[in-house]
Amino acid sequence: MRGERRPLSRAPAQRPFRIVGRSVEGPGKVRLRLAGDTGGTPGTAAARSVPGQYWVLPAHGGARIPVVDVTPAGNGSGEDASLIEVLTLWVPCGPPVGAVGERLEVRGPLGKGWNLERVTGKDVLVIAWDGGLPLTRPVIERAGGGRVRVWAGGTAPGSGGGSPWPELANATIEADGLPDMAAAARTAAFDPARSAALLAGPLPMARSAAAVLVERGMPASSIQVAVHSMLRCASGTCGRCRISTPYGSLRACHDGPVLPYDRLAGTGERQPPAGGGEE
Ligand code: FES
Repeated sequence: MRGERRPLSRAPAQRPFRIVGRSVEGPGKVRLRLAGDTGGTPGTAAARSVPGQYWVLPAHGGARIPVVDVTPAGNGSGEDASLIEVLTLWVPCGPPVGAVGERLEVRGPLGKGWNLERVTGKDVLVIAWDGGLPLTRPVIERAGGGRVRVWAGGTAPGSGGGSPWPELANATIEADGLPDMAAAARTAAFDPARSAALLAGPLPMARSAAAVLVERGMPASSIQVAVHSMLRCASGTCGRCRISTPYGSLRACHDGPVLPYDRLAGTGERQPPAGGGEE
């Protein structure tokens, strides 16, 4: 139904964390290191999120900030089992978000993350714009296997990335400073049967790039699109993350924020439009 706004169902309970590290990575981008905090006793292991899922932090004035888990592989295990690293997707105007030592009630993980099965063992093309590149790193670290090639670009300072992952031996930077995401899709050489693509950037640009890859033979089911930049209320009520597809509308905060391109393009298996009605 047009205009229907349904809150997210089956939301995970809030759990206490304490901020143990903080750095600013750019406009609206604050990286926080969070440790589980149970009031003086050692923190319990953090619930591990699938790469690409998001969490929600409280902020001043009742704001709720979506953040994405960017915990490097190897952290968040062993003695660090209660630690996660998160990156804000936006921050509200006003006082700075988070301070070292502050205790927060954090909700998550939420939403749908990257589908690792569609990546594992394949040659991976990463095409990212502005803040999209950090979203893809956790899936690259966990999927392992084939060659990873990265195209990055954007208008934000440093969004090209240079060599963002020098320690990942299987990742090479093909180009930065792209005019748009489709430019990478047009020039990349790939074997359609052995390749998968991770696209992270503004939805119209990512859709254009995905369409080019499909034209060049890559199955739509091998392409995943991250639209974290669309998340706002992160509660399923504001409607600002709505995405039109041939099957009806989706909500990035509920159906994503990582979406298989065959679902966006309307060529995959039809699923109920959980995103809340038709536009
Ligand atoms: S409905 Fe507000 S972010 Fe999805």
